[in-house]
Amino acid sequence: MKKTSKFLEVKNLGKSFGGNWAIKDINMSVNRGELLGIIGPNGAGKTTLFNMVTGFLKPTEGSISYQEKDISNLKPHKICNIGIARTFQIVKPFGNLSVLENVTIGALRYEKDVNKAKKIAHEKVKFVGLGEYSHTTASSLPLGHRKRLEMARALATDPEIIMLDEVMGGLNDEETADMMQLVKELHNDGLTIMLIEHNMHALMSLSERVVVLCYGKKLADGTPNEVSSNADVIEAYLGSDDDA
Ligand SMILES: Nc1ncnc2c1ncn2[C@@H]1O[C@H](COP(=O)(O)OP(=O)(O)OP(=O)(O)O)[C@@H](O)[C@H]1O
Ligand SMILES: [Mg+2]
Repeated sequence: MKKTSKFLEVKNLGKSFGGNWAIKDINMSVNRGELLGIIGPNGAGKTTLFNMVTGFLKPTEGSISYQEKDISNLKPHKICNIGIARTFQIVKPFGNLSVLENVTIGALRYEKDVNKAKKIAHEKVKFVGLGEYSHTTASSLPLGHRKRLEMARALATDPEIIMLDEVMGGLNDEETADMMQLVKELHNDGLTIMLIEHNMHALMSLSERVVVLCYGKKLADGTPNEVSSNADVIEAYLGSDDDA
């Protein structure tokens, strides 16, 4: 067997919206078990990248492969079934369902027995620290809790890769520290993680490697130290009004 390439790999990936390239010529990969951070100013194309990997957007150009299989044109539920889960930057729970019910829906992706799915959901709800809110309706949760719910929903699908899109966005310092702890635990358990975050301290301290996107292009790819001393990266950040 030929030496395996990367766990998840994108090649020459591009997405155009009506002639405007949100991302273009992106080549990058994620190794199994890696915690890869993705940064870039607002509009850099980070969420668009996640949307393509998870099947919510079809690439205009290029390809995405997972464990050496081409997944470029799979629909979101298929992507989820093969083990790639995500959270949404704008959290999207079923507002009138309880926390536990929302997470059970995630678990039902692979566990068809409702009671077993509920059990899995219960564990994930506890893991993210929402145990006492199991029966609270999702719409009445404050943002910090909704972000955790989003995480529990993704985890309940039993992923091999989890793609976290600003799970710390809008959180206070204490909530951010708790979320960082959760991410660390998942990584220590062997989950492969892709993390988009504007909170530089959190991202740099958690990530083993960091990819920097800027205006849809890949600007840098390296360790947190390499990336934070990269002149192009410094320029991109100093040259923007971004709070990152
Ligand atoms: N569905 C869409 N239709 C048209 N343009 C879009 C669409 N989705 C994203 N874009 C554009 O693509 C570019 C990249 O957007 P994207 O949301 O991927 O950026 P981002 O890096 O996630 O930004 P942020 O840090 O603000 O979340 C932006 O110019 C955005 O306006
Ligand atoms: Mg985004």
